[in-house]
Amino acid sequence: MPVRYLRLPHMMNHREIVLSGIRPTGFLHLGNYFGALSNWVRMQHEYNCFFFIADWHSLTTHADTTDLTTTTRRLVAELIAGGLDPELCTIYAQSDIPEIAELYLYLNMLAYKGELEKTVTFKEKVRQQPDNVNAGLLTYPVLQAADILIHRSHYVPVGKDQEQHIEMTRNFAERFNHRYGEVFPVPKAFNYGGDLVKIQSLDGTGKMSKSANQMSTVYLNDDDDLITKKIMRAKTDAGPTEPNSEMPDYIKGLFTLLGVVSSPDIVKKYEEDFNQCRIRYGDLKKQLAEDMVGFIRPMREKAKTLQDDPKTIDRIMQEGAQKARISAAATLRAVRVAVGFHPLS
Ligand code: TRP
Repeated sequence: MPVRYLRLPHMMNHREIVLSGIRPTGFLHLGNYFGALSNWVRMQHEYNCFFFIADWHSLTTHADTTDLTTTTRRLVAELIAGGLDPELCTIYAQSDIPEIAELYLYLNMLAYKGELEKTVTFKEKVRQQPDNVNAGLLTYPVLQAADILIHRSHYVPVGKDQEQHIEMTRNFAERFNHRYGEVFPVPKAFNYGGDLVKIQSLDGTGKMSKSANQMSTVYLNDDDDLITKKIMRAKTDAGPTEPNSEMPDYIKGLFTLLGVVSSPDIVKKYEEDFNQCRIRYGDLKKQLAEDMVGFIRPMREKAKTLQDDPKTIDRIMQEGAQKARISAAATLRAVRVAVGFHPLS
């Protein structure tokens, strides 16, 4: 039989493969931007990157699909506005890659009920939605493993809350390789180490997230007034009374934001003011609001322009899916042969 060589991007340039995904269940906020997206943007220059919208995964918690197309498009628009470049990386919707579903099937036979039930995210979901403990929820990590392994990925940039899923993916990959022969590299969670900026919620209750109080989460879609209002309401106090005091977490959080959007001399000025007990948090927040508005506005406007042109977004996603399917089909072919089925032509 003639061997057909698929010209995969990573074969052409020998770059290692990076993959990550995001569920279309909310919109991007500063925590997503600095915790994930800004790093994806960097990685697209150095790796062969696949970034996708995990729309199948969203069905495990959001059965209503009425808005799925719109939210998926909006997320893609925001990812591109935030710096992903469809010329440099592959952007697609999970549901456009049927190969993932077939790989999920094989991996399901290698995943044990006991280990799935022990998964932290599963137990959390059981608590959150006791009336809808569907099998998709239980096998969520298996579908995630299929997402990752379908491109034979090497690195998966994710936050701490996803590390257990990556560990499970590694186990499934090893089990597969052991049972059927080496097909998959064993992927690693990609940790940015000290580089990762942790964005705190503006009310000082932990990390910024979509489920927290809406007034303490800044979205890339917030308008100038809303951004300003949110920042002006951020938690502060009367200020330090002892020189060089330890900063409370909520003040540290504001300095972190200042550090990512304002110039170094501004940060330095407020740090000195803090250390010498003459800081005026109202002034700091005004400055932060102004710089944050300047930071978010271009992204918001770019996302809006794209969203007003759904044809372009759909074209980008179709091209992404085409590229992703070349890589996925090559993997699935190897998987089918390893398991003992004939490759589909
Ligand atoms: N479970 C991930 C989250 O909730 C989203 C996701 C789905 C994902 N498949 C993935 C992340 C594959 C990385 C790789 O954030």
